[in-house]
Amino acid sequence: MADTPLVQMTGITKRFGGVTALQNVDLTAYAGEVLAIVGDNGAGKSTLIKVLTGVYQPTEGQIFIDGQKVDFSSHAEAIDAGIDAVYQTLALADHLDPAANMFLGNELTKTIFGIEILDNKRMRSETERVLMERLGVKLKSLDAPTESLSGGQRQAVAIARAVYSEGLRVLVMDEPTAALGPQETARTLKLIKNVKAQGLAVILISHSLDDVFEVSDRVHVQRRGQCVGVVKTSESSTQEVLGMIVGAEEAA
Ligand SMILES: Nc1ncnc2c1ncn2[C@@H]1O[C@H](COP(=O)(O)OP(=O)(O)OP(=O)(O)O)[C@@H](O)[C@H]1O
Ligand SMILES: [Mg+2]
Repeated sequence: MADTPLVQMTGITKRFGGVTALQNVDLTAYAGEVLAIVGDNGAGKSTLIKVLTGVYQPTEGQIFIDGQKVDFSSHAEAIDAGIDAVYQTLALADHLDPAANMFLGNELTKTIFGIEILDNKRMRSETERVLMERLGVKLKSLDAPTESLSGGQRQAVAIARAVYSEGLRVLVMDEPTAALGPQETARTLKLIKNVKAQGLAVILISHSLDDVFEVSDRVHVQRRGQCVGVVKTSESSTQEVLGMIVGAEEAA
């Protein structure tokens, strides 16, 4: 792990009208680590990462990437800075094949006799390459519509789309295993480890402490809009983290 955090969020407060979703939250994530964010429903996990990914602007607080202050006014600006997210609703076009999904809105083209046409062959081979080289995944079929793939393989396509960008440095995943069975969950966790091994920072929101303890290096615990602690996974336990999630007074 590098010394300078790749991501540093300091004093983040986010209010929606009268609702305070986040109250003075600090978050750090390093290159080459998986940082898990855990907490009960409504603890502010999704809001926190939406602030990081430029979907929401913080009411207060600052964000630094590699020590440089950033001010994202849109998700597109966060993507330009190397931060992207895969949400539980994968935002895939299910009727299109995996390659079409990989390059949706970003299609590769070639010019033949002065006419620009889609380069389907290269989009397919690139899809195959990124899935294998970066995620260690081979799809059952590259021809079928994406909806015919398993949940885990669809997840892989969504992640491949994010990691295709050479500039990607932070991959945020909000509940990636929530809808998956045990086998597919195991594959998705493997894939997260592959992404981490390439030096990216992975920020993983999960309600499954089993998944969190399997794959993360550190755990950031949110409770009622505040960060109530950050622990090293190897030095903690599910009991300890659970106690932080529900709060000491309720656990006692
Ligand atoms: N767009 C919004 N407008 C108003 N309130 C919001 C908005 N988004 C989130 N909130 C509120 O902010 C708080 C934190 O919500 P958030 O979605 O970040 O929680 P979460 O930890 O992701 O929960 P879950 O585990 O259920 O996904 C909640 O009280 C929620 O109702
Ligand atoms: Mg959420």
